[in-house]
Amino acid sequence: NAGSLPQCPDCCRRRYTKIGYAGNTEPQFIMPSCIAIKESASVGEQAQRRLVRGVDDLDFYIGDEAIDKPNYATKWPIRHGMVEDWDLMEKFMEQVIFKYLRAEPEDHSFLMVHSHENREYLAEIMFETFNIPGLYIAVQAVLALAASWTSRQVGQRTLTGIVIDSGDGVTHAIPVAEGYVIGSCIKHIPIAGRDITFFIQQLLRDREVGIPPEQSLETAKAVKERYCYICPDIVKEFTKYDSDPGKWIKQYRGVNAISKTAFHIDVGYERFLGPEIFFHPEFANPDFMQPISDVVDEVIQSCPIDVRRPLYKNIVLSGGSTMFRDFGRRLQRDLKRVVDARLKLSEELSGGRIKPKPMEVQVVSHHMQRYAVWFGGSMLASTPEFFQVCHSKKDYDEIGPSICRHNPVFGIMS
Ligand SMILES: Nc1ncnc2c1ncn2[C@@H]1O[C@H](COP(=O)(O)OP(=O)(O)OP(=O)(O)O)[C@@H](O)[C@H]1O
Ligand SMILES: [Mg+2]
Repeated sequence: NAGSLPQCPDCCRRRYTKIGYAGNTEPQFIMPSCIAIKESASVGEQAQRRLVRGVDDLDFYIGDEAIDKPNYATKWPIRHGMVEDWDLMEKFMEQVIFKYLRAEPEDHSFLMVHSHENREYLAEIMFETFNIPGLYIAVQAVLALAASWTSRQVGQRTLTGIVIDSGDGVTHAIPVAEGYVIGSCIKHIPIAGRDITFFIQQLLRDREVGIPPEQSLETAKAVKERYCYICPDIVKEFTKYDSDPGKWIKQYRGVNAISKTAFHIDVGYERFLGPEIFFHPEFANPDFMQPISDVVDEVIQSCPIDVRRPLYKNIVLSGGSTMFRDFGRRLQRDLKRVVDARLKLSEELSGGRIKPKPMEVQVVSHHMQRYAVWFGGSMLASTPEFFQVCHSKKDYDEIGPSICRHNPVFGIMS
């Protein structure tokens, strides 16, 4: 079921918004995409209330401040990656701009990422409510490709590649050809950061008794981010640990939030078993059996034949859950095996008459991988070219929101 959507409502309740100024390497604010509004006001009143602008308007909260606020209802205006409640989205943006960025929106062009649906609404809010001078609505995968340019020679900078984006809730494999996403070939993989955290939580629960139950999730997450890595071969890895445990087992130290007493746990096989579920998903999810390398291969094979070779050559990593040490190396090796086996088979089937040209498989790991999409956007928005691809307020006023249905692909910056 690699093509199925992630499960809601859970997935939408953990979506994060990342915001900041162009030119930075990381977002200044990362906050849950939620908003808390006074419970007393009815929906009708909410909708009718005129937007009061400015930092003084404090009758609602966004992000972490909006969670578990007494007498407020917490709403999540984005569902399945699409805005469901534009009224709330507008309020959300109001605080993003005035309270967090502390910006005068008239003075700044904005780069935002958004799904295809309803880009016009977004344009309307940004141009009409906030009166911004320019807007560019970018595609996440294209920004992630641009982010990988930091690790490449100028001549190798391309907007053709396949982005493996793995965050907390879902992993996607997104092929892009010359700046355009090949939408029909995208696949979702139901294994991402949260699944690894849950898996580690379960492994630790079976083995470690010292962890306060209400802290088991955060402990598992911290263990994951600090100590996990991807190994070349789990059988060998088990042997390695068994023959010299002192060398491989790590100690995690935590503090019980209530009693304030210290606890510590041994972190052993979890270190490599956690992220192994990318390659052996059946360890954690009995309904999904396909290793990530096979999914990537399948996606590329489903793309038009003339882009397959460049896609195998530019497999770009993006997102927090691609940060495990040696993730790229293992993906490259396993994918290369799949590809080589297929070439060998076709040679054999032809009785040696066909000698297929070897396929170059290259997975690109780079320093900006953690926030690749954001960084790609930050980089693009700090070039002069950004202002050429932006839709201007003037165009908006003359033609209307339909101008944002299409956004020009930015070229190859040199
Ligand atoms: N150093 C690290 N090693 C492994 N995992 C990490 C590391 N740092 C962050 N993560 C994990 O990355 C995930 C968050 O990644 P990211 O910020 O890309 O997600 P997101 O974009 O908010 O989520 P999604 O794309 O699912 O909507 C979390 O599961 C987090 O535990
Ligand atoms: Mg993400």
